[in-house]
Amino acid sequence: MSPAADSNAALAEPPTADAPAAGLRPCEQIRPPEILQELERGVLGQDRALRYVAVAIFKHTTGKVPGNLLMIGNSGTGKTTIMNNIQRLYNEVPEYQPFRAVTIINANLLVDADRLEFRPDRLLKAVEQRARSVAGPEPSPERLKQAIERATICVDEIDKMSSVLAGKPNALGVVLQQGLLTLMEGEQLAYPVHAWVDGEEKLVTLEIDTKHMMFICGGAFEGLYDQVYARVTKPGSGEKLKTKTIRTAEGQVRIETYFSLAESLKMRDLFTFGMVPQFMARFEKVVLLDDLSIDVLRQILLKSFDSPLVRAQEFFRVIDIELTIDDLAASLIAEQAAKDSRTGARALRPIVSEIINPLEFDPWNHPALERLDGGGYRMTITADMARAVIKK
Ligand SMILES: Nc1ncnc2c1ncn2[C@@H]1O[C@H](COP(=O)(O)OP(=O)(O)O)[C@@H](O)[C@H]1O
Ligand SMILES: [Mg+2]
Repeated sequence: MSPAADSNAALAEPPTADAPAAGLRPCEQIRPPEILQELERGVLGQDRALRYVAVAIFKHTTGKVPGNLLMIGNSGTGKTTIMNNIQRLYNEVPEYQPFRAVTIINANLLVDADRLEFRPDRLLKAVEQRARSVAGPEPSPERLKQAIERATICVDEIDKMSSVLAGKPNALGVVLQQGLLTLMEGEQLAYPVHAWVDGEEKLVTLEIDTKHMMFICGGAFEGLYDQVYARVTKPGSGEKLKTKTIRTAEGQVRIETYFSLAESLKMRDLFTFGMVPQFMARFEKVVLLDDLSIDVLRQILLKSFDSPLVRAQEFFRVIDIELTIDDLAASLIAEQAAKDSRTGARALRPIVSEIINPLEFDPWNHPALERLDGGGYRMTITADMARAVIKK
């Protein structure tokens, strides 16, 4: 290659959604089932929510209006994990390079509590940082604008910005919801940045159109379950608990009533909770995350990226010890974690760390250490080790 051609390559603009780099598929070919599969590498259970996320990402990356999502789920069921995995997906799929300005931000950072003010500039600052790595070195204003406008914005802990907190009006929550809803509707924001014009860095004001940004909000909405349960079961509510038929192992049949938030939740319950109706209207879908079953907790323990067990396995691998776990031990841990319904998968951590701490402390003198014939060592977490910790 001639030197001239070489330097041309270095100056080549990074790929855009309109002009994908050689060898890459157009985003239309990356369909929701494939997106779902990729997300499921990091998020277990939550299939229903992930299907909505996958469709939203598909629309977003193919230039359609994505349809914003609100995720509601108990603590530790994977809301923040889903946001992190959306970011991971965009970073790992080469075709999504133009869409990598993904920003995860806590709702309370978008308002100034003292001045009671919405601060979209804080959001844009975070988006701009990511957009710069999308746009490449010495970006033109157009390129920067494009990368910013293709952002995905995940607003976490949105329920903490309810308009009612502990029974009292919360003006800050109204400010946040109103500010965010205007952004989600598609607003033109004047936003000053440093960009390159005619080979020189200049301060320019971009007109950012937020219409094509994708918004995913999440929150635990603590108290919503009790609130809706109370509404449904109130005498004269005109509603009844649902029933299901249970067939026991002995072959008997009985009818049980049950309450499911997913089946009973109405938009007006969210208004009562303190969400501004016009804000709720900006979401295409409110999706409820499932509480994690014992089986899903077990899978999270064994497979998820930041499972405390998987982390420990990585630690031991470095010192040439393979850490394994008996099936029964894994089930016992998952079962124990499931008993603590308030913390979801977070409940795995203290149990695992209590089992593992003695192993990590002095592996070379631990009775569980086995020398392997082929070289190296192994340690196995047994059901007895799990029982010893669980019984306490
Ligand atoms: N559905 C899930 N799939 C995989 N890991 C999960 C899931 N839910 C929770 N976790 C794990 O539990 C911890 C807390 O999850 P997080 O997503 O932060 O919960 P929250 O819903 O409160 O935001 C994280 O370490 C995460 O890896
Ligand atoms: Mg969270």
